[in-house]
Amino acid sequence: MMIKPLRKAVFPVGGLGTRFLPATKAMPKEMLPVVDRPLIQYAVDEALEAGIEQMIFVTGRGKSAIEDHFDIAYELEATMRERGKSMELLHQTRLKPGAVTYVRQQEPMGLGHAIWCARDIVGDEPFAIFLADELMAGTPGCMKQMVDAYQQIGGNIVCGYEVPDDETDRYGIVEPGIENGALVEVRGLVEKPRRGTAPSNLMIPGRYILQPEVMQVLETQEKGAGGEIQLTDAMAQLIGRQPFHAWRFDGERHDCGDKAGYIQANLAFALQREDIGPQVGAFARKLFGNHPAPREAVQLVDEVITVQLRA
Ligand code: UTP
Repeated sequence: MMIKPLRKAVFPVGGLGTRFLPATKAMPKEMLPVVDRPLIQYAVDEALEAGIEQMIFVTGRGKSAIEDHFDIAYELEATMRERGKSMELLHQTRLKPGAVTYVRQQEPMGLGHAIWCARDIVGDEPFAIFLADELMAGTPGCMKQMVDAYQQIGGNIVCGYEVPDDETDRYGIVEPGIENGALVEVRGLVEKPRRGTAPSNLMIPGRYILQPEVMQVLETQEKGAGGEIQLTDAMAQLIGRQPFHAWRFDGERHDCGDKAGYIQANLAFALQREDIGPQVGAFARKLFGNHPAPREAVQLVDEVITVQLRA
């Protein structure tokens, strides 16, 4: 079997981000920062680390801040240069000319529909998908782990991440088959299964490597859960026709599309930073120390902070 190299990534950023209103009224959710980097930057950095060269953004109205972020900020840079300020912090926002493509999804009809909008740019090649509101913290990064597996077995690979029973109804869930190390054979996929019907606890946290044939399936894909065109339903139709695996991610997932997850990501990332970690850690300790929570909870938080600070 010839395994085609993975060169392209699709970043669907056309969603409405209603869970973050009013912050996301005039600003894309993907531009929310975790410490000092917007979510979309973490995702693009993860793609670059995995050797991906071509970034395809599926945007919508009101998302132009993302385009500007990956462009030259002429005035800012000229002024900074004049004042002798270092440009180092802007380095990661520079992509090679021609390495970014934008396509608009006119209406947010679902993730499957967003991906399908990129079909002509993806062409006849395997491609990765990143949902930037899922911040995947790992060494190596999540997509790099998946690409290493892809280079061995090819086909379709989705990321897999264990969640508690009472959360499976929020996500795309894997029906697992034979397991080989971190690789899990995918026998079935279901989007937002009703409570008590999930085939496992293995959810798909927004990282995929897919073969281009999924675009043909999406062409005629009917609406699924939530009245949206679901990527999960289209992927499910590839099972049996092409190899399909899940990769158990070795690392931490932060659901930054959710307010609590977003705050937790900021805390975890801040604590790991040399420049602000000690200060934030001291503040968190003081805050939790004053909090009328049970002593065990305070102790637990304290342990977590200690571990994060050490990391
Ligand atoms: P979500 O459902 O998490 O994002 O979609 P949302 O709709 O933006 O947020 P809420 O639920 O209203 O707060 C997962 C990903 O798919 C993209 C989103 O931008 C997000 O990255 N998406 C979703 C699209 O690009 N188009 C769509 O039609 C739907």
